[in-house]
Amino acid sequence: MTDTSALDAFWSRSGQDEPYPIYERLRAGGPIIESGQEWVSTDYAVCNAILRDRRFGVRPAGDPGPTSEDTSGNTLDLGFLEREPPDHTRLRRLAAPAFRPKMMAGYAERIADFTRDLITGIERRAAAEPDRPFDLIADFAAPLPIGVITTLMGIPDADVDRLSQHGTVVGSALSGIETPAEAAALAAANAELYELFSELIPLKKAHPGDDVISYLVAAAPDGITPYELHTTARLLLIAGFETTVNLIGNGVATLLEHPAQWELLRTEPERAGAAVEEVLRYAPPVQNTSRFAHEPVSIAGVDLPADSWIMLLLGAANRDPEIFSDPAVFDITRPRQAEHLAFSSGIHYCLGAPLARLEAQIAFAEIATRLPKLRRPADTPTWRESRVIRGYATLPLLID
Ligand code: HEM
Repeated sequence: MTDTSALDAFWSRSGQDEPYPIYERLRAGGPIIESGQEWVSTDYAVCNAILRDRRFGVRPAGDPGPTSEDTSGNTLDLGFLEREPPDHTRLRRLAAPAFRPKMMAGYAERIADFTRDLITGIERRAAAEPDRPFDLIADFAAPLPIGVITTLMGIPDADVDRLSQHGTVVGSALSGIETPAEAAALAAANAELYELFSELIPLKKAHPGDDVISYLVAAAPDGITPYELHTTARLLLIAGFETTVNLIGNGVATLLEHPAQWELLRTEPERAGAAVEEVLRYAPPVQNTSRFAHEPVSIAGVDLPADSWIMLLLGAANRDPEIFSDPAVFDITRPRQAEHLAFSSGIHYCLGAPLARLEAQIAFAEIATRLPKLRRPADTPTWRESRVIRGYATLPLLID
């Protein structure tokens, strides 16, 4: 019997900051529950199976997606994230070389430099005004991934501020457009990003560099259309901006809420990699994704008709007691039981996962080493407004 009040609570906006009690109520309803014309799953095995099953897709069957920019402000085209094979395969392959695990060694030093500079800035400001909290999000967690992805993409420093503003508007639209004002802001931000890449693409064509946009430009015109070039660049930028920030924010907040775990990382910063994996499991920045059934599918005893839409609650799957023992316990020494679903699974598995892991690992180790007295002041943090992305809008902290 479906607990409809749990579904209502889930669909209402109030459940964003603490969705976990709602997930447990939904889990009690079985591995797949019906929500009107839609379906929801909290179950690890179901989510993992659907993400890997080619009978499901990211769009309704037969819908190729837009092939040119829609300026109405109602759509947000995130390139190959929202495409099916063979387009997905072709476009992902073009972007993939820069994100391969073997490329990471070359990025580590640059990430460490960015990280150290940001922490030095925090220390300097705290020395001048010791009682004034800094904001972990604005002063560290947001600028780090923005600096890293814009460097990888070869975006000039002069454009970074402009981009970060628009990137945030587009990223906030991920969970849907609800008001005319949001639609107008999205249309304006989309137009700005389009203009910015329109200026950048000819420059990269004339003077190719060792960066992702130059690689994509080199693949045109045979491998990628001008519109696809824009949406691929936009996808990489937004994915780089809007997710790792929340991994760092959720991670530091969770560690501080668990003093023994924070102490362990502080004294053994080499545990930063394991801490990143546990944060991804326990407090993942992307809480859900969804798929369309392209044909009738029977799964976990439920018949999903063709064209049905199912929401996969990755945050709930990561706490499935069938898979993870004591799933509500945050433990950075947890033995590896299964791969969490924070980066999804199957053909859309996060392309940027090695980069996100590396950034967060360096960030956690540096923070734990250089800011050992980090603590929360009385000021309360604020959460972002999104049902998809779970993370802090502000996270005030003191360093001693
Ligand atoms: C903690 C940080 C991150 C998290 C939690 C995350 C999460 C995800 C998830 C859940 C998906 C798949 C969605 C689905 O299956 O429907 C995805 C896809 C993707 N992510 Fe990430 N991501 C992160 C960081 C990054 C970074 C830094 C980049 C690189 C710029 C990136 C690039 C991508 C791309 C290109 C895709 C689309 C892959 C495809 O459709 O084949 N992500 N990410």
